[in-house]
Amino acid sequence: SLCAVAPAAAQKYPTRNITMIVPFAAGGPTDVISRIVTGHMAPTLGQSIIIENVVGAGGTTGATRAARAANDGYTLITGHMGTHAASAPLYPKLAYHPEKDFEPVALLAGTPILILARKDFPPKDLKEFVAYVKANAEKVNAAHAGIGSVSHVSCELLNSILGIKPVGVPFNGTGPAMNALVAGQVDYMCDQIVNAVPQINAGTIKAYAVATPERNPSLPNVPTTTEAGLPEFQAQAWNAIFAPKGTSPAIIATLNAAAVKALDDENVKKRLLELGSVIPAPANRTPEALAALVKSEIAKWTPVLKPAT
Ligand code: MLT
Repeated sequence: SLCAVAPAAAQKYPTRNITMIVPFAAGGPTDVISRIVTGHMAPTLGQSIIIENVVGAGGTTGATRAARAANDGYTLITGHMGTHAASAPLYPKLAYHPEKDFEPVALLAGTPILILARKDFPPKDLKEFVAYVKANAEKVNAAHAGIGSVSHVSCELLNSILGIKPVGVPFNGTGPAMNALVAGQVDYMCDQIVNAVPQINAGTIKAYAVATPERNPSLPNVPTTTEAGLPEFQAQAWNAIFAPKGTSPAIIATLNAAAVKALDDENVKKRLLELGSVIPAPANRTPEALAALVKSEIAKWTPVLKPAT
């Protein structure tokens, strides 16, 4: 009968591949976190999750694409503190609203911010860095992943604390920005820890401090900004899955359960922790908790950031 068919059909989601938009370049923090978690979600859901890197405009190109996609559960986005909070005040004509145009699915990882520099950048610690960038304000430059990206807004915060305006060097993600830092083509960067740990361990870049109250277990030798003399600079980003507005509650619940299951997997946890991520506590893994986070992050960043000119 029809009555028997409808619930069975509803329970069948997903019946085909899911596209996961990553709004930054492959190999960067959002891409890495998304691949680790969706790699576990796919077998749970019984379908492939295809990562599509839709880059540009600090992640807002990919987020616009996701906001406009069909709300059928087959196009999702791994967004972050930039695309789904800080970009709103920076782009007055943004084609989407982080709250009104998306259904929150699940928070995947907290990502502490580090102050990094090319290996041969002269300052040897954070105190010297502060003095050096102030003294050389006209000639230092800072890499970032576009206006509104995490690396951009967290360095805006740092630069405003220091009272400097370095030349910004934009990339399509901090994956390529990190390559430029390793190659010595740019001076410094404020980046999420998952992108920095492999390079710090390989000795290819300098890390001055992590901008969180505690040291990160993945980088026990990197001081906090408080220890290193700049307690005002505190910054931690986050990455999370969102679906287009109007995606059904049943689909959101299915996706959230798969993400939560991934975060409970020992191998997923190990890989995220090795890269310095903060795994969300169970209470912070619900769609409602992510909605509250987005709201509070928009409220936090709006007064700090001014529209780009
Ligand atoms: C990336 O994946 O490249 C980053 O999340 C970019 C950023 O926001 O800094």
